[in-house]
This record gives sequence, structure tokens and C-alpha cells, in this order.
Amino acid sequence: MLAVVATAALLAARLVARALIIRPVDALLETTQAIAAGNFAARADTRPRGELGRLAGAFNRMANTVQTRQNQLDASIETLRQTNEKLRSLVRDAPLAIVVVDAAGRVQLWNPAAEAMFGWSEHELIGQASPIAPADRRDELDANRARSLKGEVLRGEETVRQARDGRLLDVRVFSAALHDAGGRVNGILLAYEDITARKRAEGALVRSEKLADLGRLAAGVAHELRNPLTVVDARAQLLKRLTDAGPVSSDRLETNVDSLVEAAERMRRIVHGLSTYGKPQRVDPTLVSLPELLTALTELIAYAARNANVKVVRHVPDSLPHVLADRSQVMQILLNLANNALEAMAPAGGMLTLAGYVEDEPPTIVAEIADTGPGISPEQLEGIWTAFYTTKAEGTGLGLSIVRALVAEQPGATISVRSTIGRGTVFSLTFPQAASPS
Ligand SMILES: Nc1ncnc2c1ncn2[C@@H]1O[C@H](COP(=O)(O)OP(=O)(O)O)[C@@H](O)[C@H]1O
Ligand SMILES: [Mg+2]
Repeated sequence: MLAVVATAALLAARLVARALIIRPVDALLETTQAIAAGNFAARADTRPRGELGRLAGAFNRMANTVQTRQNQLDASIETLRQTNEKLRSLVRDAPLAIVVVDAAGRVQLWNPAAEAMFGWSEHELIGQASPIAPADRRDELDANRARSLKGEVLRGEETVRQARDGRLLDVRVFSAALHDAGGRVNGILLAYEDITARKRAEGALVRSEKLADLGRLAAGVAHELRNPLTVVDARAQLLKRLTDAGPVSSDRLETNVDSLVEAAERMRRIVHGLSTYGKPQRVDPTLVSLPELLTALTELIAYAARNANVKVVRHVPDSLPHVLADRSQVMQILLNLANNALEAMAPAGGMLTLAGYVEDEPPTIVAEIADTGPGISPEQLEGIWTAFYTTKAEGTGLGLSIVRALVAEQPGATISVRSTIGRGTVFSLTFPQAASPS
């Protein structure tokens, strides 16, 4: 009997344990497994009283936190996915050729615009070295890559690249380093803009404006040459008559020969100014003497200045250091500015000042063309550099846009303008201080 009672009691205890402990623990375990499997909405039963109920409560609070975190994570992933998709379509549809290379220069991405611009398809190039540098630009490409890997950003540097069919393309390059999650540079993003057509159009504009300038100049130069030619003619005839008549004193000989030499020198300067002006467009920076250039300019515009009733004065110390620039292009810049100044002052006249000086801060050398013309209003000042902007009946509006393009070709040169209505206008051309000629 005792045994029966004991057995019944044990059974009852087991049943109670199952109802109060084992079942709730099993339920909690199930919930844990559901959450682990990704069902973040699963919650534990908090009905059991006592310790187990509190445990389930704590567990549910933790599950709430996990679910909130997971929702945030899902939202972030979705945002990332959308951003990624946007970037992908941006790269795919960009009009710029976009290329990604790894640190060793092997192509990782080559967008459709790159395929169209250079002629290679992406699948041909993935993992290969980028083939678009012409043979004589390989060093530049390597140097650019080194610069980019060091973190330097290229912002539209102009250079030349080669298409698959051998065509050379004028391009502007933009580039930036790409970093891995640890912040190390692991590649370079490059964008190329094809500016071949624009370059060609610019070249044509420069040439046509140059022809017009040359035509204008030719009249002046012919006129300028007439004076020294008259001198040469007269002196030569005099010398001939003197020597025909018998021995000539060395004094007389010297005076006549001196004036012949002087006239010849004057003609040489005029012709020199003109000949450098007509040279082709390849940029060829050398050490240029601004005093010499401004003297040649004075000769070239003397005739036009007289016609415009303009007095030309020079304030250029002979000691002015040389600048590194393309002589014939700087001449074209100065001529364009001087012609504008003369046109602004004609027919009333005025004064054209050609000045050259050294500026210490920043260290530059400045050539100034200043006139006493009507000046340019602040609103107009913004427009004057634009191609085809002109206020003249006969103007082309190309002079200053070409000036700006030519200034950009001179290493480190800049141009600026200041003007006061009723007072006049000053164009300043600045060059970095270059090494003195040896
Ligand atoms: N020194 C100056 N004084 C007054 N206006 C000027 C001067 N230089 C340029 N400009 C203005 O800038 C315009 C554009 O000059 P430019 O590009 O050389 O073309 P264009 O001489 O054919 O008009 C001129 O039409 C004129 O209005
Ligand atoms: Mg002009």
C-alpha cells in the first residue's frame, strides 16, 4: 500500500514538474530556435508564474531589441542596394568613359562610354593593363597612377589617349583613389572626357582670328617698314655719290653707315615681331624676354596707334627676368589686348601703357596693357571672355576667348582684368617667376 502511495506521489510530482517547468522551458527553446531561424516576430509565453515567467519576459525584451536592430539593418541594406543600383546605372549610362583599375593598373571596370570612346569592350580588358596610353605617353600614365595612388586627385588634366583603331584622342582626365574597408588605396577611378572635337574647333577659331589679325597687321607693318626703308635708300644713295666723287672721310662714312645699321635693325625688329606671330600652333615654351617682346609689340602697333590718336608709353625695366612661355603665343595675346585697347580709345585717342614688373607675393612677373578708354561696366566684364561676345559693329568677339585659351597654354600663366567706367581698362598677364637664362 505504501508502495502504491509512493508511486502515485512520484507520478504526480512528475506531472506537476512537466506542466510547470519542462513544458515552458521547451516552449522557450522553440521560440529561441524560431528567432535563430529568422522569424524575428516569435515571442515566448510569459504566462508561467515565477522565475520562468520572468525569464520569458526578459527573453522577449531581448527579442524586441533584436527585431528592431534587424529592421534597421534591413533598411540599411535596402538603402545600400538602391545606392548601389543608382551608382551602377550612373556608371553604365554616364557620357564620360569611366574606368576602374586596381593598384597594379589592371582594369576592373570599363563602362559602355569607355567602350564607345576607345573601342575595346569590357570583357576583353577585365584583368588586363589599360591599353589606351599612346607609346609616348606610357611614362605619363605610370606617373599619373603613382600620383593617384598617393591620394592626389586629377581634375580634368588634358592629355592624349589612343583608341583601338589607332586614332589619337584629346581627353580630359579626372581620377581619384579608391579605398578598401581598412582605408588602404586599392584602386583608381578614372573618368575621361573626349575633347578632340572641341580642340579642333578651337584650333580653327585661333587660326581664323589669327588670319584676320595678320591682315590688319600687314597694313601697319608695310607702313612701318617704309620709314626705315626710306632711310636706307637715302643713305645708300648718298654713300654711293660720296664714294664715286673720291675718298670719303671716315667720320662721314661712319655716320652714314651707323644710320644704315640703325634702320636695318629697326626693320629687323618689325619683321621679327611679325614672323614669330605667324608660326604654327605647337606650344613651345622657352625663356622669353618681356622687355624685348613689348618693344616688338610697340613697333607692330605704332601705325595703328597713330591712326587711333593713341600715345604708347612703355614702363618695362630691361632687367625684368625672363618668363617661361611660348613667344609667338604671348605675342598674339599682347597684340589682341593692345588692339582691343586701341579700338576702345579710337577715334578720340588716349594713352596705351605697356608695363612690366616683378611681384613678390605671389612671386610673379606681370605684363600690363592699360588704356584710358571708356572702360567696361561690371555687368559687361563677365561676358567679355565669352566667344562671340562683342560690342563692336565689325567685331568677331573671338579675341579675348582666344587670349584666354592661349594663356591657359602658358605654364602657370594667368590673366585678369580691372576696369573703371570713364577711366580705362587694365589687362594683367602674370607668369610664375622662371629660372634666369644662363
Ligand atoms: N580695352 C578694352 N576696353 C573696353 N572694352 C574692351 C576692351 N577689351 C575688350 N573689350 C570689350 O570686350 C569685347 C570682346 O573683345 P574681343 O573678344 O577681343 O572681341 P572683339 O574685339 O572682336 O569685339 C569687346 O567687344 C569690348 O566690348
Ligand atoms: Mg578684339
